[in-house]
Amino acid sequence: MTKSNVKRVCLAYSGGLDTSVILHWLIEQYGCEVVAYTADVGQQEELSGLPEKAKATGAVDCIVRDLREEFARDYVFPAIRGCAIYEGTYLLGTALARPLIAKHHAEVARDTGCDAVAHGATGKGNDQVRFELTFRALAPELKIIAPWREWDLRGRADCFDYCQKYEIPITATLEKPYSIDRNLMHISFEGGVLEDPWHAPDESMFIMTTSPEDAPDVPAEVLIGFEAGNPVSIDGESLSPASLLDRINKIAGAHGVGRVDMVENRFVGLRSRGVYETPGGTVLHAAHRAVESITLDRDLMHERDRLSPRFAELIYNGFWFAPEMKAMRAMIDAAQQNVTGEARVKLYKGGVHITGRRSPVSLYDAAESSFEFGGAADTYDQKDASGFIKLQGLRLRGHR
Ligand code: ARG
Repeated sequence: MTKSNVKRVCLAYSGGLDTSVILHWLIEQYGCEVVAYTADVGQQEELSGLPEKAKATGAVDCIVRDLREEFARDYVFPAIRGCAIYEGTYLLGTALARPLIAKHHAEVARDTGCDAVAHGATGKGNDQVRFELTFRALAPELKIIAPWREWDLRGRADCFDYCQKYEIPITATLEKPYSIDRNLMHISFEGGVLEDPWHAPDESMFIMTTSPEDAPDVPAEVLIGFEAGNPVSIDGESLSPASLLDRINKIAGAHGVGRVDMVENRFVGLRSRGVYETPGGTVLHAAHRAVESITLDRDLMHERDRLSPRFAELIYNGFWFAPEMKAMRAMIDAAQQNVTGEARVKLYKGGVHITGRRSPVSLYDAAESSFEFGGAADTYDQKDASGFIKLQGLRLRGHR
């Protein structure tokens, strides 16, 4: 890309060190205007004063969008409906927020007359892929600038020097022990001492969760209500998606629930050690399964279960807006229509324990399933079982 053919760039801006440098660098290198864009997905960073800061660094405008409800409703909850868990362990907190952030990024770029978008993701991670695949899908006409893949700054120290040189206002300090990504669903930690996969995370690192050892000695009991696969209430109180997620995060976090420590396979082919805190998401996944256990047809559930690992992979790899994703989600959601009911969950020192499930549309028939004789003999006759097993066993004869 010749650096002159960009007139106005929309930059995903947090006000932190990297994106402050990028803002200035874009103006300097491309001779373009920069519109700053900030998405509030519940990262709890200071948003007040952000537009002033962006303008002080040279932005012509700064647009902040509150995406918390949309994030919970249209990204986190679909992942729960589809039991999306990457490599059996990662609940996808970051991966789910990226397409949403990028979708609004493209929209803001269009609304403000930009011909390009820029982001602060590095050239080694998944986030660059997720952002850019979303731009390709939704706004292919926009040029994409990824300064970390382009410039010769090599890390935080270089960024720091850059800020001093150009008198860019920053509050960051040079030492930043981890790469942290936070939103309404989770916090992720990578880098620093965690790059040694044998190095246990320091207790002081955690933000959303109390350590299981320090969690209360008395368990908490919560009722989670679901409608068509979506969490809708806690202890009988209806809540909006974002407030529900926020509430369950606090309850579960206090009991040390939802910590994960893993080495995962990034889409770009690298391995990466990550530590996550997903307190509420962990409880919602478990409670959702519990409600499914009495409301979902067996084979329908198993079909969905076959899709889940692939669904998680598509989310992880950034294919939220791909045609196969759309078809897969339609299948998953069709399967969720009857997933209505409540699960009772006990939270205790990092553990999540289902202690009950009930539903007005339950498929569980106590009489039919009972060990006691006599129940529902018209639908289930034990004599039928002998023929059933005999025929199932026919082809197994002699296999030792
Ligand atoms: N490894 C996780 C993922 O790919 C978390 C990434 C966190 N991103 C970040 N820029 N710190 O989804």
